[in-house]
Amino acid sequence: MGVKSVFITGIGSGLGKAFAQRFLEKGYKVYALSRHLPDCLKNNSEIKFQFCDLQALETIYPAAERLLEGIENLDVAILNAGFLTELKDIHDTPIYEMNLMMDINVWANKVILDYLIDKKIKTPQIVAISSGASVNGNRGWHGYSISKAALNMLIKLYSREMEDTHLIALAPGLILTPMLEKFVLSADEEKFPSVKRIKNAPKMTPEEAAEKIINLLPKLKKFESGSYLDVRKI
Ligand SMILES: NC(=O)c1ccc[n+]([C@@H]2O[C@H](COP(=O)([O-])OP(=O)(O)OC[C@H]3O[C@@H](n4cnc5c(N)ncnc54)[C@H](OP(=O)(O)O)[C@@H]3O)[C@@H](O)[C@H]2O)c1
Repeated sequence: MGVKSVFITGIGSGLGKAFAQRFLEKGYKVYALSRHLPDCLKNNSEIKFQFCDLQALETIYPAAERLLEGIENLDVAILNAGFLTELKDIHDTPIYEMNLMMDINVWANKVILDYLIDKKIKTPQIVAISSGASVNGNRGWHGYSISKAALNMLIKLYSREMEDTHLIALAPGLILTPMLEKFVLSADEEKFPSVKRIKNAPKMTPEEAAEKIINLLPKLKKFESGSYLDVRKI
């Protein structure tokens, strides 16, 4: 058996950075599409990094082409990159801001899945990082909740078409990352009760979460392809 390979979006910080580190430690070749390559991953010959701002949808396909040229198989793809803005009422959230979350959290993943299909890159397992927010509907989670709910459906729809690929939309649990610290833990906990609950709930480090999800990969395959799952419930 050759070297295993993984494709990951969004490795600049948080969970994606930890995924890249853990997969490298496990001997995988890592193909990463992101805006930032963290210092700790520079000079590692086993990671191939391609700059891509996933907000610029028209640049994703050519960036994927540069990154994955000549690649016929990937063992797993982790659609991790995600974007959240400050919690606020949906009434106060401009549509252009909601569109940004839709572009990065949903449509960027559509371009990537289309690329994998077009180029016939065999990918037996794909995990899209969703969120409990995709089903909770808590006050203040505006376009993020809508985008993650749409991501769940995107994954279900592609699962109907990608017969040789097992796809899951996975809520990763609470992880202390820049996203959580900047936009959630700093928000008004009186107005947004989920903030208080999140503050009091146990949280994983990005490394713990990445390890947990990597260890769960075989188990995820026991669920129907296209499902939404929450790591806290499996
Ligand atoms: N933290 C939690 O508790 C939690 C809970 C539920 C779901 N999630 C989900 O987990 C995933 C990882 O989030 P995180 O918590 O690790 O947050 P984070 O530290 O803010 O990481 C977000 C990641 O997305 C990438 N990204 C964002 N905008 C991008 C863009 N325009 N182009 C390319 N890459 C972009 C970033 O990479 P660059 O720096 O290279 O841009 C970064 O690696 C997200 O999908 C998030 O929705 C997190």
